[in-house]
Amino acid sequence: MEPWLIDTDPGVDDALAILAAHRLPNVRVLAMTIAAGNVGIEHTVQNALKLTEVMGVETPVYVGAPKPLVRPADDAAFVHGLDGFGDIGYRPSKHLAEAEHAVAAMIRLARQHAGKLNMIMLGPLTNLALALSLEPELPNLVKRLVIMGGAVTGRGNTERLPAEFNTGFDAEAAHIVFSHWPSFDLVDWEATMAHGLPIAELDQYLAADHDYARFYRAISRKTRTWMSKERHPTHWFAADALAMAAALWPEHVQEWQTRGLKVELEGRLSRGATLVDWTGRMGWPKNARIMMRYSLPDFGRFVGTALGA
Ligand code: BDR
Ligand code: CA
Repeated sequence: MEPWLIDTDPGVDDALAILAAHRLPNVRVLAMTIAAGNVGIEHTVQNALKLTEVMGVETPVYVGAPKPLVRPADDAAFVHGLDGFGDIGYRPSKHLAEAEHAVAAMIRLARQHAGKLNMIMLGPLTNLALALSLEPELPNLVKRLVIMGGAVTGRGNTERLPAEFNTGFDAEAAHIVFSHWPSFDLVDWEATMAHGLPIAELDQYLAADHDYARFYRAISRKTRTWMSKERHPTHWFAADALAMAAALWPEHVQEWQTRGLKVELEGRLSRGATLVDWTGRMGWPKNARIMMRYSLPDFGRFVGTALGA
């Protein structure tokens, strides 16, 4: 079984990705390290613990950094609800977070499973940037790193920046990771928008007679209403689930492009935006393997699997 560490800020689309990872027989989720992002860390930790309860698993949950490295935190509560899980008022989980800090756990697990551990980042990159600062050898210890973040042709999704949410939330952390990790896989916001699932198909999966589907139906209701008004009336977009599909079912990726990727830290108008050396004329190190196309029917199947359909 492939060992994976999931760094996440759950988050409605994070939840779908996490359910999927726990449903696949060839995947062993060693840990969830929690970031602040979609909502405050007090909620993202509780949401991760609630998921472990719903799934009936013992995956340890480690609390990470409560805020971005440099700038004040923003959030995406307008998408995910004030508690990040659609404000359904769920009963708090009986599961507890581990005492060890997420950054320490990340380094420890990378050392224990040197050359074997895979990591996927579904939220801002704060925890990974801190881990890299403490253990610069991390890229040599980790087998594969998959990042959901960035907007490679410039269309972001945040309200206040021309950036994708995860890189905009902690641009300095993204800078540390992009400049020190020699080679990682990226699933960005534009890929997300190019891989919407028809609502009718999603509804079919959500109707499954399974605890995962029942819980997901409840927590995704608010986001769906928002999404149908603000994004698209007929399709559903789930950035983190798409990143998880590229991570766990990479055989269905139809096109990768490997290019140099950086993030803007200053910029009068462009802080947090990602920039790609598409033509190679800047000579930036080719650090990012960018996912351009994924088989849509297989992404649908992946979401169906996540929900027990
Ligand atoms: C990313 O931002 C968050 O709102 C989602 O959970 C996803 O990780 C998409 O830009
Ligand atoms: Ca996320």
